Amino acid sequence: MPARMTVEAEASSLQSVSVSSERYGSPARLLHWAVAILVLITWPLGLMIGFAKKDVVSTFYLLHESFGFLILWLMLLRVGYKLTSKAPKHEGSALERVAASGVHGLLYAFLVIMPVTGFLATNAHGFPLNWFGLVEVWSPIGKSPDIAWNLSAIHEWSAWILLALFALHIGAVLFHHMIKRDMTLYRIL
Ligand code: HEM
Ligand code: HEM
Repeated sequence: MPARMTVEAEASSLQSVSVSSERYGSPARLLHWAVAILVLITWPLGLMIGFAKKDVVSTFYLLHESFGFLILWLMLLRVGYKLTSKAPKHEGSALERVAASGVHGLLYAFLVIMPVTGFLATNAHGFPLNWFGLVEVWSPIGKSPDIAWNLSAIHEWSAWILLALFALHIGAVLFHHMIKRDMTLYRIL
């Protein structure tokens, strides 16, 4: 019965695909999407600070800094989870695996550098963070005009590096999904 054989062959090939492509654990998947959504909100809010009118600019600062600070705590949870769990192995050639680990590692690093430098810059300029207008966040440094602009410069440069890494990340996801047509996207869904 050729039709039945085709169905069986398809089922067995699907089974081998799902066996060979593990997924990230549910905490990793949840944290990935929470951080991704927050970054897609926080990044444009940061850029808009420079263009906002005087009467609304403080709202842009408040929202940008509060969402950004939340990313820091989610990233610390994420690093903790990463260090204590087993991530699925990257597929593809040695070069693809190195590129994936390199870009993911740099994304992790800049997702910590960004909120830390933003937070310290705000403190150094003399504006302690009031998280969503609810909690005054303790500041490890007081007003420090001598380093404030250096911290701001690191924050701004890092923002553009993060954007470039994100572009590489999306390029890689599209490459896997549309060209190689493998299971990479499903690992994080
Ligand atoms: C992952 C988190 C964050 C991202 C992606 C991010 C991104 C950005 C971007 C794109 C800009 C505009 C840069 C430019 O004009 O070239 C910016 C500016 C700014 N961000 Fe953030 N930011 C984050 C976290 C924070 C946090 C936590 C704070 C403070 C608590 C903060 C404070 C600021 C301030 C004060 C500016 C205005 C310009 C400056 O002084 O550097 N950011 N941010
Ligand atoms: C918006 C659409 C996005 C899609 C479709 C997407 C898709 C993916 C996929 C498929 C993976 C798994 C890759 C693999 O296993 O080789 C992944 C991992 C990852 N993504 Fe995204 N992503 C998105 C947004 C973001 C954003 C905005 C960031 C941060 C700026 C980000 C940071 C990461 C990191 C750091 C990993 C590695 C996960 C780990 O090792 O824990 N992603 N993403």
